[in-house]
Amino acid sequence: MQLPSPIEKTHLRTCNNRDVKLFVKRDDLIHELISGNKWRKLKYNVKQCRAMKYEGILTFGGAYSNHLLATAAACKQEGIKSIGLVRGDELHSESNQMLKQCAELGMLLEFISREEYALRHEKEYHEELVLKFPSKMVVPEGGANYYGMIGCQEIMAETDNDFDFVFVAQGTTTTSCGILLSIPERTKLVAVPVLKGFDAEGEMRRMFNYSGFPSEIIEDLMVQLTIVSDHHFGGYAKYNDELLDRMEQIFDETSIPLDPIYTGKAFVAMLDYIETNNVRDAKILFVHTGGIAGGKAIEKETGRRFS
Ligand SMILES: Cc1ncc(COP(=O)(O)O)c(C=O)c1O
Repeated sequence: MQLPSPIEKTHLRTCNNRDVKLFVKRDDLIHELISGNKWRKLKYNVKQCRAMKYEGILTFGGAYSNHLLATAAACKQEGIKSIGLVRGDELHSESNQMLKQCAELGMLLEFISREEYALRHEKEYHEELVLKFPSKMVVPEGGANYYGMIGCQEIMAETDNDFDFVFVAQGTTTTSCGILLSIPERTKLVAVPVLKGFDAEGEMRRMFNYSGFPSEIIEDLMVQLTIVSDHHFGGYAKYNDELLDRMEQIFDETSIPLDPIYTGKAFVAMLDYIETNNVRDAKILFVHTGGIAGGKAIEKETGRRFS
């Protein structure tokens, strides 16, 4: 594991012309499988699993879930069991390379119907799971819980933490919540949701509220937050030629690999934010949250080159 992850200074023309110093926190380099924000979100879940003397972790994911694969790899590395509940009872462990790899890493895979998968946040359903899989710690899809959030606080602790802006891609909001908790008051966090019509602020408030933060503290934190909600390029896992063209340009100039699901959208949103808001003479951090395996698969499909 490469921890702390490296920080790279990039030299994009648009940034240099504006005296913007742009750094990239390369969490994508932490580990081949437990890459990007995955280790950040799993670290304290694994520690809690151990501390509470559970035998292992039970979690959820779709057919191509990076979170399932990262959980399988992390549990194997830490010597604990893993169970993955996979959306789609038509699937099996040979259905694709990612599920195959999960099984090879020792994850017990259970394929459940979409109806059952829809219950994954319900308390009663968790109670049933605990009876069916005794002594397993239930971790939400995407590692989206308190332990995931505090693990993500460690990203900024590995930097000088003196930026004017921090940019990050947003899915469940776990990573952005962790970052927001760990930046100084003068820093602005700009989060880029990759889901269309996503209530990012509402979701972040829920995450903080659920973690026990009083509403006054939550409101203070929200002052430092900006959500860029118009760079989802059609919604989750959607992309178009404009996005891929710009990702190719960025890769040509910086050699920083991006993926069209998360980091590509966030990076392009960051460059547009700098232009639109006429940002000058600023120090900016882009948190690279990984996703390179998914990006490589799309590169192969489209014949493009951005990683
Ligand atoms: C590569 C990548 N970037 C960003 C995110 C979004 O992180 P979060 O769900 O913590 O908001 C994810 C999802 O976990 C991801 O896989």
